Amino acid sequence: MKFTAICTLFVVAVVGSPTPPPNIHSNMGHTKRIPLNSRSTAGNYSKVFDPKAVWGQLGFVHHKYSATMGAYQRNTGSPHPLSSRFDVHSVAKRNGNVSLVNYKSDLWYGEIEVGTPPKTFTVVFDTGSSDLFLPSTECGVACDGHTAYDPAASSFSKDSGQPFVLTYGAGETAGEEYVDDVFVGGYEADDQTLGAAWIYSPEFSKDNFPPDGLSGLAFREISEFEGSPLFQTLDESGKLPQSVIGFKLSTTPGDSEMVVGGTNTDLYHSDTLTYVPVTKKGYWQVKLGAISRLGQEVIESQAADAIIDTGTTFVITSYSIAQSYYANISGATAHTEGDDTYWTIPCDTINSTVPTFTFGTRAFKVSTETYNLGPDVDYADCLAGIAASAEMNFTIVGDVFLQNVYSVFDYANTRVGFAELA
Ligand SMILES: *[C@@H]1O[C@H](CO)[C@@H](O)[C@H](O)[C@H]1NC(C)=O
Ligand SMILES: *[C@@H]1O[C@H](CO)[C@@H](O)[C@H](O)[C@H]1NC(C)=O
Ligand SMILES: *[C@@H]1O[C@H](CO)[C@@H](O)[C@H](O)[C@H]1NC(C)=O
Ligand SMILES: *[C@@H]1O[C@H](CO)[C@@H](O)[C@H](O)[C@H]1NC(C)=O
Repeated sequence: MKFTAICTLFVVAVVGSPTPPPNIHSNMGHTKRIPLNSRSTAGNYSKVFDPKAVWGQLGFVHHKYSATMGAYQRNTGSPHPLSSRFDVHSVAKRNGNVSLVNYKSDLWYGEIEVGTPPKTFTVVFDTGSSDLFLPSTECGVACDGHTAYDPAASSFSKDSGQPFVLTYGAGETAGEEYVDDVFVGGYEADDQTLGAAWIYSPEFSKDNFPPDGLSGLAFREISEFEGSPLFQTLDESGKLPQSVIGFKLSTTPGDSEMVVGGTNTDLYHSDTLTYVPVTKKGYWQVKLGAISRLGQEVIESQAADAIIDTGTTFVITSYSIAQSYYANISGATAHTEGDDTYWTIPCDTINSTVPTFTFGTRAFKVSTETYNLGPDVDYADCLAGIAASAEMNFTIVGDVFLQNVYSVFDYANTRVGFAELA
């Protein structure tokens, strides 16, 4: 996740102005209104309802009642009489399914619930880090607009008495570690360590970062907290049908989802599912076989270490790998600032320069939609999805690639699987 910030800066700096920011609120069902027909138009059905908005409204009702019944219990000291007839954890019926919202082709986030009574937060699900943080009620204006975690309002929260600081490139957050119950896709992680932040740097303000917090899904070895990461806690609960997490990432609203404890076999071609072993537990680190273009192996990177990171936008590799990738592309121009370099290619030819990534025995093609990140201010050159860092001798495989495949993070067998999307 250290690299997410780098990438976020890339996107803001390079494609920020020509690409109008999508209205993220339109993706969030519960903020939508269901249009009501007026008397004069009701007869001819000139307006139709949006089923997504209805589902959003129904979900919102559940959240509202779960929150207000929790408040009743806190305020009066006893549970609301109807609460026994209300399944506050009806998330359990979700079968691990967590729908994800995309923001500016840059980050994907979904809901978790934390505490008793459970309160809903949105977090980026980041396979490139292992810690979970949320804004706390102690955080001032820096956290305005975000939902805040209030340990005092949660029956089973425990203060670990451990301060934390997490630094992500330009941004940082600091606060205190707690343990509390966290629900994801209906599964419960008991006594999950989480950071309740009282400091959010501007990069995490609501305007720059719409979700409330971030949940790392990698291994304990890279956790900066002293506690097990969310995935490990879920796995140890023994309730997951399979100790895997499946991802589909897309910029099409309503098309992205994460499945905790399984995969959604409707979303990929099972016969193409190809696993590569994690070579070093910590990150989801695997071997990248090759990067090719036009059927030619441009980079034979037999031994290239690659980290599979849903929390990073670009593919970021070493300068020498990226340079040899772009070397033969006419009009490819490197733009370097400090240690970071990105490349632009004339917009009328960039689509013929898409890469293919080989993992194990299978080559996965990157689409023009995800590789071509759009034009610069002159609409002459387009930003290409493979960037480089002089500091890195490995490759971070981010969303530019991951949007092209169904990915499976297999905790039990410490391997990552990729399959062609259905
Ligand atoms: C997950 O939820 C989304 C939206 O609620 C739905 O479209 C999708 O079919 C669900 N997937 C599964 C596997 O239930
Ligand atoms: C790059 O260009 C050189 C010289 O034109 C050519 O020999 C080589 O095959 C090209 N490589 C790729 C990967 O296109
Ligand atoms: C390149 O691909 C993008 C995304 O698929 C598309 O919008 C654009 O029109 C294409 N450009 C050309 C010149 O074909
Ligand atoms: C980085 O890569 C170069 C060339 O591929 C290799 O010679 C060198 O040993 C690597 N350095 C590290 C620190 O891994």
